[in-house]
Amino acid sequence: MTSFPDNFLWGASTSAFQIEGGYMEGGKGLATTDMGTGGPDVADNKVASDHFHHWKEDVDLMAELGMKVYRMGFSWSRIMPDTTGIPNAEGLEFYDQLINYLLEKGIQPFVTLYHFECPMAPVEEFGGWASRKMIDLYLKYAEICFKHFKGRIKMWATVNEQLIATSSGRLNGNTEKDPKQYAKVLYQMSYHVSLAEHKAISLLREIDSEATIGPVCAIQVIYPRTCKPEDILAAEYAEEMMQYYLLDMSVYGKYPPYFESYLKKHGLYPHTEEDDAVCLQDSKPDFIGINYYFSGCVEAREDGPEYGIFPPWAIGDYKMCENPHVLKTEWMANGIDPKGLMAGLRKTYHRYRLPMIICENGMAYSETLGEDHKIHDTYRIDYLTQHILQVKEAVDEGYPVFGYCPWSFIDVVSSHQGFSKRYGLIYIDRTEKDVKECKRYKKDSFYWYQNVIKNNGL
Ligand code: BG6
Repeated sequence: MTSFPDNFLWGASTSAFQIEGGYMEGGKGLATTDMGTGGPDVADNKVASDHFHHWKEDVDLMAELGMKVYRMGFSWSRIMPDTTGIPNAEGLEFYDQLINYLLEKGIQPFVTLYHFECPMAPVEEFGGWASRKMIDLYLKYAEICFKHFKGRIKMWATVNEQLIATSSGRLNGNTEKDPKQYAKVLYQMSYHVSLAEHKAISLLREIDSEATIGPVCAIQVIYPRTCKPEDILAAEYAEEMMQYYLLDMSVYGKYPPYFESYLKKHGLYPHTEEDDAVCLQDSKPDFIGINYYFSGCVEAREDGPEYGIFPPWAIGDYKMCENPHVLKTEWMANGIDPKGLMAGLRKTYHRYRLPMIICENGMAYSETLGEDHKIHDTYRIDYLTQHILQVKEAVDEGYPVFGYCPWSFIDVVSSHQGFSKRYGLIYIDRTEKDVKECKRYKKDSFYWYQNVIKNNGL
């Protein structure tokens, strides 16, 4: 029996566009994620898990599970459908009901403002994050949320996985065709997101000094392929190009030297303005949200940067490669590596000295409901057990990890691979194309996790 500290926040995670559905209902504006989530053969997010119509039943299930915290997202385009800065009353009403019911059930809402879903209006009007105008719009959206939910939402996340949010043109509207120019826009967008994040943190301090806020980072635990010094350095470069440049900006308001010189050397450094440095260094997050699914492995790159494949993995003095020591499965192509979570927590804390909460960690699997209406997901129970054990070890060693939220509370539409790739503790009865009634069925992992929470440990 491994017991966690009494106030440890056990929870579970989702994001708005991956569960809500309610496409264009209740005054919602269009978002990039409404344009499809991964091609013609996979589910889009128009219905997703139909949480928009099942939210009450879902909160009841959260209460039954015993969740203390619910890591969820707001849909920016549901709250602010256009660029006028005027909130959509029906959108706020939807979240009012949800937040109030969560609080009634004793579940703390932990809300991400920006989780991949970029409203289309600013993308069409001025190119979204490519323009500084987006900073003001995000700030307006944040202000609406901070004021409206003051006293009810006490934990906010600024941005989910800035690495992916700024790299995926499908998510942020970067339509540059030339691969190098695409990368330049990517880093400009990322710089604007960092500015927006800092301004939002400062704003929250003014509006609600009791609430806390932090970024959610997809931590990159990168191993060198061999002990060749070149490979060791390549792993360090890779972590800097995929994680530290983002978190250094979130926490210290500046880029690490290698990243900065790399961008300058390759003509990718973003346009900055005079007062930016003050704004970037004026605020600091309260915590770091950690997403972790798998680790990565690299070797040194001798040739120049390779543009045109998915940028975060491609640009830098390193090449991604296979790690023969981790177990790969159908949907976990990079392999399963619980120890990587421990490595990531250690490195993140050593560099930033901030409390951490696991916001996402989960095991994807193709599942179909048996005749008994059950899903015997022992593979998921095993995955979560192994990772929770690493969190426990980190806590025992003195690392301040204050919560754990597996991805995902219910099956959701994947960020880019449809509905066959399932992570949930609860099965949603639908297929890629047939949404049926989206009935909820508790998987074996639901009951298992219910016990973990009840026993405050494994
Ligand atoms: C994280 C995201 O990157 O990974 C989630 O924050 C996403 O939105 C999750 O769903 C799993 O990735 P995928 O691509 O399998 O949905």
